[in-house]
Amino acid sequence: MSKITAAITAVGGYVPENRLTNFDLEKIIETSDEWIKTRTGISERRILKEAGTATSDLGVPAVLDLLAKKNLDPKEIDCIICATVTPDMFFPSTANIISDRIGATNAFGYDLSAACSGFLFALTTGASYIESGRYKKVIVMGADKMSSILDYTERNNCIIFGDGAAAVLLEPSLDGYGVQDSILKSDGAGKNYLHIKAGGSLRPATIETVLAKEHYIFQEGKTVFKYAVSGMADVSAELLERNQLTGDDINWLVPHQANLRIIDATAKRMGLPIEKVMINISRYGNTTAATIPLCLWDWQDQLKKGDNLVLAAFGGGFTWGATLVKWGY
Ligand code: COA
Repeated sequence: MSKITAAITAVGGYVPENRLTNFDLEKIIETSDEWIKTRTGISERRILKEAGTATSDLGVPAVLDLLAKKNLDPKEIDCIICATVTPDMFFPSTANIISDRIGATNAFGYDLSAACSGFLFALTTGASYIESGRYKKVIVMGADKMSSILDYTERNNCIIFGDGAAAVLLEPSLDGYGVQDSILKSDGAGKNYLHIKAGGSLRPATIETVLAKEHYIFQEGKTVFKYAVSGMADVSAELLERNQLTGDDINWLVPHQANLRIIDATAKRMGLPIEKVMINISRYGNTTAATIPLCLWDWQDQLKKGDNLVLAAFGGGFTWGATLVKWGY
């Protein structure tokens, strides 16, 4: 019997209408369009600004887009894994909230927390369900409302992140399409450089934690940058080597969109020209778990059956990894 692989058979995505440009940020913090563009490659990000909205409000339209493309009944979905660091609530999971709202009544689901590497970790997990032969339709998504954890009076972080969500459908392939190999890594020592100090069991919310702005992202940008450049490039090169591939064999690099300079370094290390790299950071900023599937969503019309893709990420934790995918449609 042929080996079952997990093919990506559809992509759906959603970004809010509202744009926050570098020029808008110039009006609220001490920064400039020039500084942001040169240091990060970002021109604008999308913000879900309506009161009472949450990450599921990004995730639901992304999954509905995917279902419409496949003309798929939500009751056919076996499982939804939602990678996010901005869940609607601690529990129940955002995946469950999304399942309920789209009518995926036969699906089990849960959230996966691996920051900017969340989509890759979730993709590998979802692919294993398909490869096991037990499940036939698994949705893997990345969704983050980063604006909910940003301090818009502090210029280091609020310029970087944006809101968005995107999802892929995994189905069994007997022809070898889909996820081929994955290298995933974590190092908890990285927690000191990128975290949210309060709100968890270590420092539950108090008036003091709120006043000290401890519920917002804390980041030592320079240190994270240093680890991200080497982490993402090294793991991508290791993945190529392990599969006896070179940059010539790869049609697309799909990198996490954290900083244009980190993306450039990874492409160079893999021997890939920039034309083979999906880059949309200028329009969305860093949407954390959503960056990689949002790239697939933006580029889906240019992808061809059999294309070799390397998906690569680095993020809080630290977490990082790379996944080799043979495009299935
Ligand atoms: N506008 C203008 N100036 C700014 C600024 C802003 N938004 N933010 C910082 N600066 C200033 C700093 O205060 C500093 O001034 P100084 O030299 O007078 O002290 C100067 O610009 C350089 O700051 P620095 O933090 O060294 O800049 P950088 O080149 O490291 O760029 C980041 C900052 C955050 C863009 C960069 O470190 C980065 O991208 N890090 C990785 C972030 C990331 O990807 N995180 C997500 C996890 S994947």
